[in-house]
Amino acid sequence: MSHSEYPLLIQGGMGVNVSNWQLARAVASAGDRLGVRTMGVVSGTGIGIVVARRLQDGDPGGHIRKAFDAFPYSEMADRVWDAWYVEGGKPEGKPYKSIPMVNFKLRLDVAELIVCANFAEVWLAKQGHNGPIGINYLEKIQTPRLPEILGAMIAGVDVVLMGAGIPHQVPGVLDRFAAYEPASYYLDVVGAGSREFPMALDPASIVPERFVGRLRRPRFFAIVATHVLAQFLSDPRRTTGRVDGFIAEGPTAGGHNAPPRDRSKFNQRGEPVYGEKDTVDPRKMRELGRPFWLAGSYAHPQKLTEALAEGAAGCQMGSIFALCEESGLRVDLKRELRRLAFRRHLDVVADSRSSPSGFPFNVAQLSGTVSDAEAHDARTRICDIGYLRHAYKTERGAIAFRCPSEPVDTYIKRGGKIEDTEGRKCLCNGLLSAVGLAQMHHWGEELPIVTLGRNTDFIHDLIDDEEGRYTAADALRYLLGKHSRLLN
Ligand SMILES: Cc1cc2nc3c(=O)[nH]c(=O)nc-3n(C[C@H](O)[C@H](O)[C@H](O)COP(=O)(O)O)c2cc1C
Repeated sequence: MSHSEYPLLIQGGMGVNVSNWQLARAVASAGDRLGVRTMGVVSGTGIGIVVARRLQDGDPGGHIRKAFDAFPYSEMADRVWDAWYVEGGKPEGKPYKSIPMVNFKLRLDVAELIVCANFAEVWLAKQGHNGPIGINYLEKIQTPRLPEILGAMIAGVDVVLMGAGIPHQVPGVLDRFAAYEPASYYLDVVGAGSREFPMALDPASIVPERFVGRLRRPRFFAIVATHVLAQFLSDPRRTTGRVDGFIAEGPTAGGHNAPPRDRSKFNQRGEPVYGEKDTVDPRKMRELGRPFWLAGSYAHPQKLTEALAEGAAGCQMGSIFALCEESGLRVDLKRELRRLAFRRHLDVVADSRSSPSGFPFNVAQLSGTVSDAEAHDARTRICDIGYLRHAYKTERGAIAFRCPSEPVDTYIKRGGKIEDTEGRKCLCNGLLSAVGLAQMHHWGEELPIVTLGRNTDFIHDLIDDEEGRYTAADALRYLLGKHSRLLN
C-alpha cells in the first residue's frame, strides 16, 4: 500500500477536549486548502461529560443543536438534549449536574449521551472540508468504550486511534459495528481473569437499524511506545482484527506516556528514567509493513523530513496544536504557556504519581493549577466523575470500582493500598477545568491540570514576541511549507 493515501501529518488527539472539533476541523480543512494530507483528531475521552456540560452552559454557538439535528435517530438526540440542555446556561457559580458514572452495566440514558456526544464531536469536525477526521481514546478508560465507538462510527469517523494500554480488542469492535452486529469488550478487572467480564453492546438496541444500517469501518491506528508492542499488535493471533497503522510515540510527548521497562529508576526530580529498550526502532517498524507515524517532539520541519527518511508515513504532533488559537485549552492558560515557552521558562515534569492510571503524565508547572502544591492543598479529595477508576472483583464475585485519587479512607475500604494514593491527583476534574468546564464545590472551583510535551521550541518560529498567537493553519504552514510542494 502506498503512503500517498495516508496523512503526512496527524494532529494528535488531546484530552479532555483540548483537541476539540474546532481544532480538528481547522487542521483537516487547512490541509485540504494547502493540498497536503493532514488529519485532525478529536479527543473522545470524557466527551459525554463535555457535551453534557456544554449543554448546561446553554450550547454556546448552537453547534451541538446542529449536530444533534443531523443525528439519524432524532428521538434519541432529543432525549439527550432534554436531559441536559439549560436555556441561557446555568447560573454562574452553580455546580454542573453530576452525570451517572459509567459502570460495567451501562444505563441506557448514559449510553445515549455517550453515543450522541461522540457523534456530535466527529460530525462537527467533518463539516466544510474533505480531509480525514480521527478520534482518540485511552485504552485504560474502558467502560464507555462501546457506545463511544458506535457514536463516532455513526458520524463516519475515518480513523480510531488508541493508546495508554494494549488496544488489541478494538479492531474487532470496528468490524462488528460496521456490520451493525453486537460487539463485546472484556473489562480489565483486578483479581479476575482477562475474559471474565465482557461488556456487550448491540448497536440496534441503542439506534434501531432502520436509521443507520451498515457503517463504514474506520481504520485503526494503535499508539505504541515500543516496536515490541507494535510487533505484538501486528500478529493476527493477538488481536481481534486488523491494526491498520501505528503511532510510535516517545516519552517527551504531551499527555500520558508508557512507563519505562525498568520502573525502578528515577532522576532527582522524581521523573522516570527511560533507557535504550524504551525506544522505537524505525527499521523494526518498517518490517511490519504497515504505515507508522513518529510522535513526541517532532514539531519541526526538519524532524518531519527525518521521519520520512526513516520510512515513516509522517509525524503526529500535539503541543504545537494545543497552544494554537483553535484548541480547547482555556485562553488564559494558553497565553501563559506560550509566554513561558517563549522565555524558555516553561517547565514540564514527567510526573509518575499524579495520574490514577499509574502511567507517567507530563505536567506543565503553572501557578494556580494543580501543579501548584499550595493551591492544590486547598482541595478536598472527591471522586465524582470516575473515568479513571479501576475495576476490581469483590469477595462476592461482583465488580466494583475504586480510584487512587478518591478520599483515602474510601479507597482503603475498597481494598486499595494506601501507598497507591500518595501524590495522586484528580485528572478527570483537573482536565475538565483546563478547558473551561470546571466543577464548583463548596470549597471552591476545581483547579486545572495542564499537560504538554517536553519540547516547545517551535514557539520561536511561530510568534515574534511573548504575547504572540498563531492558528492551526500557521502551525501547518510552518511544519509543512516545503512538503506541501514536494510531496503532493
Ligand atoms: C494537551 C495534550 C493532551 C494530550 N492528550 C492525549 C490523549 O488524550 N490521548 C493520546 O493518545 N495522546 C494525548 N496526547 C499526545 C498527543 O496526541 C501527541 O501524540 C503528542 O503530543 C506528540 O508530542 P508533542 O507534544 O511533542 O508534539 C496529548 C498531548 C497534549 C499536548
